[in-house]
Amino acid sequence: MNAEPKEVLRDEAALQIDNNGNLCHLLTLKGVSHDLLVDILDDAEKFLTRPGDLPARTRSLQGRTVANLFFEPSTRTRASFDLAGKRLGADVLNLDVNTSSRKKGESILDTIYTLEAMQVDVMVVRDASAGVPAYIARHVKPHVSILNAGESDVSHPTQGLLDVLTIRQHKKRFDDLVVAIVGDIRHSRVAMSTSQALTTLGVSDLRLISPPVLAPDPDSVPGATLVDNLEEGLEDADVVMALRIQRERIGNLDGIPGIDEYYANYGISNESIKRARPDAIVMHPGPMNRGIEIEGALADGPRSVITEQVRNGVAIRMAVLDRISRTMAARQ
Ligand code: CP
Repeated sequence: MNAEPKEVLRDEAALQIDNNGNLCHLLTLKGVSHDLLVDILDDAEKFLTRPGDLPARTRSLQGRTVANLFFEPSTRTRASFDLAGKRLGADVLNLDVNTSSRKKGESILDTIYTLEAMQVDVMVVRDASAGVPAYIARHVKPHVSILNAGESDVSHPTQGLLDVLTIRQHKKRFDDLVVAIVGDIRHSRVAMSTSQALTTLGVSDLRLISPPVLAPDPDSVPGATLVDNLEEGLEDADVVMALRIQRERIGNLDGIPGIDEYYANYGISNESIKRARPDAIVMHPGPMNRGIEIEGALADGPRSVITEQVRNGVAIRMAVLDRISRTMAARQ
């Protein structure tokens, strides 16, 4: 990256709330209040319609422009932000990073200022480097909002929101739940954001299960228990979420288990899930590697809520964009 974030980060949680207490960026779920989380989940429910019915639409972003800037691959997040913006009436620009001038050495801020000059109001940013969304948020004009769509191994706030919405739909409450997240916790921004939301919503038994080499720093997820034995970690779980190994974020693969060893010891399968509660739901943020972190038959089976997570992803992104539109309206 050129001239990328070198400055000391301000508290991201403070940066994303304006002087009137309104959400002006979404950079992290760390520090987001219980009430705001619940409000966003409740808003998202209003954007859900039954399969086969027409999707919900409003005009709350009519006249506004949303730019999707994905400097890392994405299927779910990019497509759902695209649909969410359009269903709220916005003009949506999907920048093709492979043909963008950042490939020619343009700094990310020059890209951002170029889009700002074209009157883009909301920038949805995915980047492989930590700190990029907050860095951009600190440099754009006050009327421009930045939404974090996946930041290195640090944060993926809308994924965390859609995960807790899916859990709430099935389990109704959080305080007595046992939630097990299994896989490459160390390199997973999903594990970070989903854990932060679960903890704020009251989950007291959150287990992060991984081989020791893929475990997070012990104090990086306050309130979670780190477990390296799958059977022990899945015991009586209400919710089981499998994660893929984030090979693109692991510099040195020495010590990382091979596929067969990993599946034997940490794969979520119809056999290993027997340790969980009979009504446990099975989640995966995608992209999914069948036969590595999850058995295909389980992913397609009755316990799986994986496609519901995807459906909820559009509703959550609509809820966040709609909230940003209200912040913009309140400023006028
Ligand atoms: N879960 C998730 O972020 O998926 P994509 O990489 O396809 O957006």
